This record gives sequence, C-alpha cells and structure tokens, in this order.
Amino acid sequence: MRNRAVATLAMAGVVSVALAACGSTSDNTTGAAPSGGASTSLQTKAGGAGGDVGVFTWWAAGSEKKGLDALEALFKEKYPNDKFVNLAVAGGAGSNAKAKLASDLQNNQPPDSFQGHAGAELADYIDAGQIEPVNDVIQALGGQSAFPKNLLDRLTVDGNIYSVPSNIHRANVVWANTAVLKKAGVNQPPKDIKSWIADMDKIKASGVSTPLSVSGTWTQVQLFENVLIADLGAEKYNGLFDGKTAWDSAEVKAAAADYKKLLSYTNTASDGDDWPVATDMVIDGKAAYNVMGDWAVAEFADKGKKQDQDWTWFPTPGTDGVFDFLADSFTLPKGAKNPGGTKDWLMLIGSAEGQKAFNLAKGSIPARTDVPKTDFPPYQQAAMDAFKSNTIVSSIAHGAAVSLAWNADISTAISKFYSSKDDATLVSDLAAAAKKNLG
Ligand code: GAL
Repeated sequence: MRNRAVATLAMAGVVSVALAACGSTSDNTTGAAPSGGASTSLQTKAGGAGGDVGVFTWWAAGSEKKGLDALEALFKEKYPNDKFVNLAVAGGAGSNAKAKLASDLQNNQPPDSFQGHAGAELADYIDAGQIEPVNDVIQALGGQSAFPKNLLDRLTVDGNIYSVPSNIHRANVVWANTAVLKKAGVNQPPKDIKSWIADMDKIKASGVSTPLSVSGTWTQVQLFENVLIADLGAEKYNGLFDGKTAWDSAEVKAAAADYKKLLSYTNTASDGDDWPVATDMVIDGKAAYNVMGDWAVAEFADKGKKQDQDWTWFPTPGTDGVFDFLADSFTLPKGAKNPGGTKDWLMLIGSAEGQKAFNLAKGSIPARTDVPKTDFPPYQQAAMDAFKSNTIVSSIAHGAAVSLAWNADISTAISKFYSSKDDATLVSDLAAAAKKNLG
C-alpha cells in the first residue's frame, strides 16, 4: 500500500542537536542529516534570503486566517528581507485548495511552500516526486529533541523528512452549547454512541430540533470516522488502513447504522457548507453538539465565547482515551522559485516562538514538545495531556490515514449516503474503495 514507509521508519539516526530554533535573524545554522538522508547543511541568511515567499494554505478566512496572520506577522519581524505572499484558497480541509494545488504542481508552478497533512497525504506528494527533503531544517530546529518521535515517524519516508509540522489537531471532539445541555437536563458526557443518542432525544424534547450539526461532505467524513473509532476501538480502526480490518465487517456495518441514526438528529447540510456553519449552530444555540476538529476552539474565541460558561467539550462518546490525530505540515516543493525563502518560512513555523503564536490563535497544540503548556488556555492544555497519554489514531478526513485518492473515494461514498441513507450500499462502497486503494 502507498502508506508503506510512513509511520514505520523510526528516526533513530536523528542527532539531537538543538540549534538556534527560533527563526532568529542572525541564524547561520548547520545541522546533521537524519541517518540515510541526503547531506544536509542548512545555511540561512540573517534577515532572510530575500524575495517573495508564496505560501499556499486553505486558511483563508475567519478564525483560521487569524492563525496564519499570526505567523505572517512573526515572519515579517524575523525575516524582514523576505516578502510573505499569501496564496490561501478558501474551503475547510482544503476542499477547494487541494485541486488547485494539484494542478499547480502538475503544471510545474509550485508555490514556495504548501500545507499538507502528516501521514498518507504527504506520502502522495513524495511518491509523485513533488517535494524535497527538509532534513536540514528539521535538524536545525532540534530534530528528535524538539519533535515527538511518533510525529517524526509519520513524516519520514525512506529515511527522509519532507515537511515541517506547525501543529497537531485532534479530530474526535464534541463541542457543546452549555446552556442548551443545561436546559435539556443533560449533565454529563455520554459514555458511548447509544447513550449519546439518548441525550439527543432529551435535547429534542427540550425544544431544540437539531441536536447535532453537520456541514458539507468532509465534515460528514470526519463524523463517520469518529463513529468508526467509537464502534471499532483504536486497534480495529487502525486495521482498516492496512487490510487487517475488513471494511464490510460486522463492526463497520454497526458503525454505518449508528452513523445513519446520528444523521437523523442533524440539520440538512448543503455540500458547499463549510465547517463554521455547523460550529456556529452550537455557538448560536441552534444545535447542542458539533463534532469538529479543535480548530473549533478558535471559532469560539473569535465569537467571544468562553469555555464552560458558553461551551464545553468532550471526546466523541466511545473514543475517550483515543486521540484522533492530524498535523499540518509545510513543504519545500520541487522547483520552488525561492527555496532560501522557503527555508526561512519553515524555520519560522517550526520554531518554538512560531508554534506558540500560531497555535494560540489556531486551537491546535504545538508539534514541538518544548513550548510551555502553561502558555495555553485550558482546552489546549488538556489536548497536550491527551496527546501524550492517549492511543493515537490517524484521521481519515485530514490526510493522516489515507491517500488523497482513497480519501476522495470515501468522500464520494459518504456524500452519496447523505442523500440515499442506504447503509448497506455505504458499506459496500467503502469496501470497494478499500480494495481499490489498498491494492
Ligand atoms: C484541516 C486542517 C486544519 C483546519 C481544518 C479545517 O484539514 O489540518 O488546520 O484548517 O482542515 O479547515
């Protein structure tokens, strides 16, 4: 399978030399290569390489843009010779951006850096020969002494690291409106999907017609992946991606039935709806719950809402103790016009200072382990603890577990199901997608 080398190769050879990692304007850093990697010696120029640095993301609007803005401001300060060029394309989870990126890469018009997801998605770009190793940058940023090994493993293919992670998000979180729960007499987080459904009945009875909010297709894929984790458990869920768990097993069939039931408690979403539409329903008290990645924290903050007073969170029922992982990670594309500027950008986003600024605004947690936990608000502190102690599984909807092609096939099946509500066909479509993509 295409995920073959990702997450299996240990970074045992990374020399833990934490060099100046903060994008300082006076860096002239060198770093040793991870074992088996190409020769890596990072030279950066004080104040930056100069020239335009085009950065491609999907953080184009609202709370997500605030995270990018925080990075841009710091980049300008640390690398005054460089000019940040914002190439963001709107649409959560890269729903529009990924197609534009694919065509730019195909036409040899790469940006200087683009956002990708640690895991299977980045393996796609590596297999296609579209990105360069950045071992030197990772090394200069501190290598294994700065980044967790389980994250570096997910970024490593055949001994090389091809991107610099900016953050880690959790995708199995339910966000809830405190007042709506209180009114319905729902006082504690449900332990599994069945008891969650019972709570939704109470919420309906209290007068809220859509207990659970959803948006367009990728948010439905994410909801379904949450149900899979809850119903299969971490080990069997992981087995879906290496052929050990059949996609038409009894557990997946049960998950499809639970997912169908959950959808009966939701609003009617249109495919183009982006995630804030669903999260805002919780903020506005039109829904009790939304399952969303923890970029939702930034949306609550943006709307002036306070944890506990206005909103609360819990791991999706049945997934407590599991951390559904994804990480945004930035690349050096082959043929980038300004590779020196790209490396300045990568040094900035990988630095402790960059990670603090970005993650405070984004709701995620730093990929680095040396950013003080106490600098973050309670939700993120809890997420940091969970990442350390929980079982980590990879998100389907956000490129960690499956390739771009497999994700597209799963999305087609989920979108079809949204209209048909035929769970037997959903299961057979998913099994066919697995067969096609696992080979
Ligand atoms: C994910 C991405 C997150 C966030 C989210 C919603 O794919 O990793 O950082 O942007 O999409 O757009």
